[in-house]
Amino acid sequence: MLLENTLTIDAAAVQFAADVRAGLDRPGQKELSSKYFYDPVGSALFEAISVMPEYGLTRADERVLRQHASDLASMVPAPLLVCELGSGSGKKTRWILESLCRLEPVSYYPIEISPAALASCERELAQVNGLTVVGVERDYLDGLREVAARRKEGTHLLVLFLGSTIGNFDSEADRRFLQSVRQTLVPGDCLLLGADLVKPLNQLLAAYDDPAGVTAAFNLNILARINRELDADFNLRQFEHVARFNEKTSSIEMHLRSKKPQTVTIPRAEFMVQFREGETIWTESSHKYSVAELKTLAAASGFHCKEQWIDQEWQFAESLFIAI
Ligand SMILES: C[S@@+](CC[C@H](N)C(=O)[O-])C[C@H]1O[C@@H](n2cnc3c(N)ncnc32)[C@H](O)[C@@H]1O
Repeated sequence: MLLENTLTIDAAAVQFAADVRAGLDRPGQKELSSKYFYDPVGSALFEAISVMPEYGLTRADERVLRQHASDLASMVPAPLLVCELGSGSGKKTRWILESLCRLEPVSYYPIEISPAALASCERELAQVNGLTVVGVERDYLDGLREVAARRKEGTHLLVLFLGSTIGNFDSEADRRFLQSVRQTLVPGDCLLLGADLVKPLNQLLAAYDDPAGVTAAFNLNILARINRELDADFNLRQFEHVARFNEKTSSIEMHLRSKKPQTVTIPRAEFMVQFREGETIWTESSHKYSVAELKTLAAASGFHCKEQWIDQEWQFAESLFIAI
């Protein structure tokens, strides 16, 4: 595994404190980046969300990958090096990797900021025949650049970005992110992009606000993480999970709403923050795409959309983009 050294772990803690402070100190809407959901508790809660009856997204993604893994394997160039941005547990990725490994041995680089997710991904895929797994504990683009730098002449890259994590970027930021991905690639390299599609409002709201409260626990855990890592004194019982649909941006937004006026101290960020009753912290957006929008996104970021596979039961698209 490519591990962060002690210095960069310290740097990550300093960055976490700085980002928390900047996000909660913003005039207007307070914010916390969704990338901070994924400490060991958050990664475990995300796995639980992915099997909730209301959250059809992961099952839809897996159905598409399972059905079309061999089509995908026949469309990508060889020899190939596979890397995945934010692999999580890598459970769904198994279908693709098994299909590719039937053709030739494959090296797979899951790129993750969550060491817990990375460890479960390495365990999950350890037994796939012909597969070498090399975990990369880095941010998406740093990790991708590092993997791209290791490729041998003539080897192509297949980048996987599954589970609609692309939808967590704000509007326009998805395009900028894919442009940065494209800059690390060469023509003929591939990107498999999973994206959740627009669907009825009640279905979306239930997916992000399940009655068992698992998504609420996932959302609230970001405050618990700040307590654990930055010695803060958030009282989690004084905040509640809110999921709502923003029609303008076609996104589900998750917020944490303060139930009363309160002050929270965050010593390791050298910061104190006040909340009004009803005020929210915006923790995540999940943009819902149209099929046409994904094709436009490909063109705007330097790719050609070669194929799209769509799950009809849950309206989820896997798109194969080729770098041009
Ligand atoms: C929504 S989950 C999706 C996991 C998996 N791809 C799936 O489809 O089920 C996002 C994953 O990306 C990781 N992640 C979030 N932000 C990241 C970043 N900036 N760099 C690397 N990994 C990140 C998280 O730790 C988490 O495991």
